[in-house]
Amino acid sequence: MSHSEFPYFRGRRLRTGPNIRLMVAEHTLSPADFIAPLFVMEGENQKEEIPSMPGYFRFTLDLLLKETEEIQSLGIPAVLLFAKVPDEKKDNEGTEALNPDGLMQQTVRVLKKEFPELVVMTDVALDPYSSYGHDGIVKEGQIVNDESAELLAKMAVSHAEAGADFVAPSDMMDGRILIMREALEETGFVNTGIMAYSAKYASSYYGPFRDALDSAPGFGDKKTYQMDPANVTEAVKEAISDEQEGADIIMVKPGLPYLDVVRAVKESVHIPVSVYNVSGEYAMIKAAAEKGWLDEEHAMMEALIAFKRAGADLIATYFAKDAARLLLSPPLKGG
Ligand code: PBG
Repeated sequence: MSHSEFPYFRGRRLRTGPNIRLMVAEHTLSPADFIAPLFVMEGENQKEEIPSMPGYFRFTLDLLLKETEEIQSLGIPAVLLFAKVPDEKKDNEGTEALNPDGLMQQTVRVLKKEFPELVVMTDVALDPYSSYGHDGIVKEGQIVNDESAELLAKMAVSHAEAGADFVAPSDMMDGRILIMREALEETGFVNTGIMAYSAKYASSYYGPFRDALDSAPGFGDKKTYQMDPANVTEAVKEAISDEQEGADIIMVKPGLPYLDVVRAVKESVHIPVSVYNVSGEYAMIKAAAEKGWLDEEHAMMEALIAFKRAGADLIATYFAKDAARLLLSPPLKGG
């Protein structure tokens, strides 16, 4: 039997055992890759599980401190804050968003005081503050762009004043990165960074998040500002434009259904790229695991390494704590 055609290459040689597999792994995960999203609500000594996000909670500020301490002790360097705003504080202009003593501003101040080294990032968008549940100001049924961008810049400055290290505009208004950067420079916050949601899609995967913040749009949808899932060239254009406007980090969102977008953006900009493993992606794995249809740990780690493989430098994920715990637990598991 002649094997002259048989290749000397045998891919399986490098898969024979856990150590050789570790040695040739092209990508790795570390707790330093993660950004942990946090939901804060008014009140004291309360935590509420978000029904569509099993195992994930909204915390009052006092309990959020304990949660943050745990996040830090696992080696996760950053948190991304979202505030739940009671209905009576919502209006069309998001007035509460600019309140220097608002829940977001207060939370930032306390976190930076307790954890000076923690990288505190804040969501900048009107939806949790808007009586219409939209990311910008509504006029005659339209989400107006330039006025919204000006307001969001004020919101960013307000977060910077409270001590935020990064503001993370998730609104998708045109031109807001430039306006925000200028506003931060003019007020002296030259070192406050901007993580721009440059390619944020009009996605069904945000459903559980909107439950968490009670922020679903009151009318219509977000398709006039968030992107069409059919597009990738447009995502590259948005990312390049935000880089030029002064963004420090580019965000792609959602994550798993958009890995090609992560790759395309990574190859087009010269700043770090982050990806948001959104609430619906978390919910899918949790729900399937609850039914015994998927192994939660393996599905989680497979999703997270996929982001690194696609080119993401950072991953915002509700799995941050679970994944960090697993990564830190010796011995490294084979297989
Ligand atoms: C709001 C915002 C959303 C998310 C982050 N910021 C929802 C939306 O745009 O409707 C979604 C995050 C997630 O689903 O985990 N600007």
